[in-house]
Amino acid sequence: MAEPLKLAISKGRIFEETLPLLASADIYPREDPKTSRKLVLDTNREDLKLVIIRAADVPTYVEYGAADFGVAGKDVLLEHPGDGLYEPLDLRIAHCRMMVAGKSEMTPRAGHLRIATKYVRSTRRFYAERGEQVEVIKLYGSMELAPLVGLADRIVDLVDTGSTLRANGLVPLEHIADISSRLVINKASMKMRHQPVKKFTRLMAEAVEKLH
Ligand code: ADP
Ligand code: PRP
Ligand code: MG
Repeated sequence: MAEPLKLAISKGRIFEETLPLLASADIYPREDPKTSRKLVLDTNREDLKLVIIRAADVPTYVEYGAADFGVAGKDVLLEHPGDGLYEPLDLRIAHCRMMVAGKSEMTPRAGHLRIATKYVRSTRRFYAERGEQVEVIKLYGSMELAPLVGLADRIVDLVDTGSTLRANGLVPLEHIADISSRLVINKASMKMRHQPVKKFTRLMAEAVEKLH
């Protein structure tokens, strides 16, 4: 039999929200990354395995062909430069918005605004398009803390319910992008394994339609 196809997926929110789509296509992982430490999970289908990786690493695994497919947030894809991936399908899960946020009242700073974010590329693009010069500070998480302790004037982060911002006394200020997760496909897999790749993509597209 041919090598099983590999779907790269991150645990937590994306895994949980992808499960119903897979179930709708009659695909069931044999283990749950919440309870298993295994990083390669079998499914009920011989020809499909899941590989469990960090959300921000999904485009890299898929681009290099270490996984044939992946599920990745648009926020992550916007940070991953190049055209090494096909992005054929909006899975319509993990919806949120990428936003600029900050304190409602801010003492003006002499010089450029400082923006803390893990989304350096999207942040630079957003301000460059407005012709505004800013200083971008790269963080890896907990961006909401930065304005509270004087590290930055603003943050660029994901907002869903707004409760994380509220809990830290911050307000959403500007909308950068609507975010949802996408199916991404390795370009070589699309060429070399066209039939099974197309078939899986079609199954996922039907699942999205069924669940919406
Ligand atoms: P990480 O550990 O990288 O933060 P998450 O599981 O929190 O991983 O996020 C994975 C993806 O889910 C993000 O890239 C984004 O597309 C989406 N996401 C993140 N936070 C939210 C949220 N609060 N509501 C909905 N979707 C979100
Ligand atoms: C995400 C995001 C925000 C929060 C927004 O964090 O980075 O902090 O959700 O959602 P809300 O508007 O509904 O509060 P997440 O829960 O993924 O935590 P982590 O990435 O810091 O682990
Ligand atoms: Mg997160």
